[in-house]
Amino acid sequence: MTIDTVPVALGERSYEVRIGRGLIAGAGTHLAPLLTRPRVAILTDETVAAIHLPPFVSALEGAGIAASSLALPAGEATKSWQHLGRAVEWLIGEKVERGDLVVALGGGVIGDLAGFAAAILRRGVRFAQVPTTLLAQVDSSVGGKTGINSPQGKNLIGAFHQPSLVLADIDALATLPGRDFRAGYGEVAKYGLLGDAAFFAWLEANGPALRDDPAALQHAVARCVAMKAGIVARDETEQGERALLNLGHTFGHALESATGYSDRLLHGEGVAIGCTLAFQLSARMGLCPQEDPSRVAAHFAAMGLPSRPCDIPGDLPDAEALIALMGQDKKVVDGKLRMILARGIGQAFVTDRVDRAELRAVLGG
Ligand code: NAD
Ligand code: GLY
Repeated sequence: MTIDTVPVALGERSYEVRIGRGLIAGAGTHLAPLLTRPRVAILTDETVAAIHLPPFVSALEGAGIAASSLALPAGEATKSWQHLGRAVEWLIGEKVERGDLVVALGGGVIGDLAGFAAAILRRGVRFAQVPTTLLAQVDSSVGGKTGINSPQGKNLIGAFHQPSLVLADIDALATLPGRDFRAGYGEVAKYGLLGDAAFFAWLEANGPALRDDPAALQHAVARCVAMKAGIVARDETEQGERALLNLGHTFGHALESATGYSDRLLHGEGVAIGCTLAFQLSARMGLCPQEDPSRVAAHFAAMGLPSRPCDIPGDLPDAEALIALMGQDKKVVDGKLRMILARGIGQAFVTDRVDRAELRAVLGG
């Protein structure tokens, strides 16, 4: 199978996202041209290290590249000052120089943390992303948002720091637990819903069998990355269009916050519920066809994803409390909620004209 190459056009910070099978096995060939000396420092997590680090290191060594690695605990709690400090001190101890390359091998947690560590180490060293979750391949490894969480909120500390290369190996997804694969799929569907109705229709037909069809999976990842690359190239620092990538996220983040960022609700599951709610709100406000919300919910159900707040196990706060949590969103300007709504499938837009009564109604208030 061929490798799809998607350019991210950002002037002197441009890079390629390569998507295909066997990219970890061929990592030496892909990374060697970026190196000023034959060594890299790898940041990963303990779960990924147990499965994918040995073949990755062998592939590098086969190309004459020495690799050292640090495996941090798996999970969202690793995006913290404590583990950032540990990673940066380790990189300094490894004598990583300005010209060297840091490699993030893992999901979005490792990609965000390693990218931020690279951004602040010696005022900035280059890094490459080798994303191993579906979420990281279609979203977090592309676009240069890096960072960690504050005790006061998610992703509040960080920097824009673009990678020098992204290697999305479709084969790595075979070892992903089913729930993590489905959660990542929430972000895949988001791309169709926000800007490509034909892709959403393709997902309705192909989504349920995606996991067992590497060619279809590669097509889906490449389509999402191409959409994200285009948006990032036009609006790198989210002055406008990039906010569309947050379709479903204002609802999703409030639900994640209400469930304590626990495994009651994974990020991509919150996105699936949030996308459905965004279409319900759009329909109630007369913005999109009345049949769209049920089509969106039906697709998530077919994929084994939740689409309603009541699909989340356990109790949730009431509608007013959820709206208060939505007020913490990074898109709030002058205290005014800005949301991504839709005129139809594939036609999302940003607005601060949100009907509060309808918002309460979709949240069950
Ligand atoms: P994650 O990195 O925690 O990975 C999920 C789980 O899968 C972890 O337990 C990990 O160890 C395991 N895992 C990873 N790859 C595996 C593999 N191939 N086989 C088996 N297990 C594997 O979570 P995620 O969903 O990849 O990323 C979520 C994070 O991404 C959040 O912190 C979110 O804020 C961030 N994010 C960032 C951006 C961005 O633009 N920077 C965009 C979206 C999300
Ligand atoms: N995941 C949203 C963004 O990269 O802008």
